[in-house]
Amino acid sequence: MTATIIDGKAIAETMRGELAEKVSRMKEKDVVPGLGVVLVGDDPASVSYVTAKERACEKIGIYSEEHRLEASTSEEELLALVGSMNNDPRIDGILVQLPLPKQIDENKVLLAIDPAKDVDGFHPYSVGKMVLGQETFLPCTPHGIVQLLLRSGAETKGRHVVIVGRSNIVGKPLANLLLQKSEGGNATVTVCHSATRNMADIVRQGDIVIAAVGKPEIIGADMIKEGAVVIDVGVNRVEDASKKRGYRLVGDVAFEAVSHKASMITPVPGGVGPMTITMLLYNTVQSAQRRRL
Ligand code: GUN
Repeated sequence: MTATIIDGKAIAETMRGELAEKVSRMKEKDVVPGLGVVLVGDDPASVSYVTAKERACEKIGIYSEEHRLEASTSEEELLALVGSMNNDPRIDGILVQLPLPKQIDENKVLLAIDPAKDVDGFHPYSVGKMVLGQETFLPCTPHGIVQLLLRSGAETKGRHVVIVGRSNIVGKPLANLLLQKSEGGNATVTVCHSATRNMADIVRQGDIVIAAVGKPEIIGADMIKEGAVVIDVGVNRVEDASKKRGYRLVGDVAFEAVSHKASMITPVPGGVGPMTITMLLYNTVQSAQRRRL
């Protein structure tokens, strides 16, 4: 079997087009959705994510403001900035790029964000509502994955989805979304992690396998059932002297080998990544609608 490529870039473009139209209709009512982005330090991966988020905002007409703070920034300074954005009427969404330097307590910062502006969906209030299946901002990467599956016609109802990785940003919330009794949910979900025994045996049972580990190409073809749908969340930099930047990006899945066994697969880059940013734009527009229309 040769897998169909799930084109995250194309699906994201379609959704961004829909959002751009919505934003231009909002502008007729003098409402411009606004996103405040905070980056502490200069981790290269975080810099490139934040830059991509800002460019995406600009392209569809969302106002965005960037706050780049020194790696040595104190928790108090960051909390004060979050407080000022909570009170700024132009700002509908607040995004503090993670991870934060070790002198700053991440939980304290996430707790300080007004839940009405929590477009990342990381505030415990948002997480609780999501688990209960109540309306709230959904975390961007898990929500983007659900949209990818829905829009590429991969049925989740009654299917066994195996998630590899239990992070607060991807694995845990994704398991919850796929469990919901609603469209894009109704799956039977298994979450594998670093303490899982016989992981390959479990992953091989997956009708849908979602890899969110952060280790280059650890999911090989021998772990994938013939005809499975494979979603690769990993973005790993691997040294490559032949590239101008000195590295290339690979996922958590051995793409070439697995694509001969899967029925559908996402590439890296161009799969999940563009969807994550799109769902951030979606949440920001939704926030502006809720708050100002
Ligand atoms: N770091 C890695 N992914 C994310 C994300 O989706 N949001 C934020 N704020 N930080 C991240």
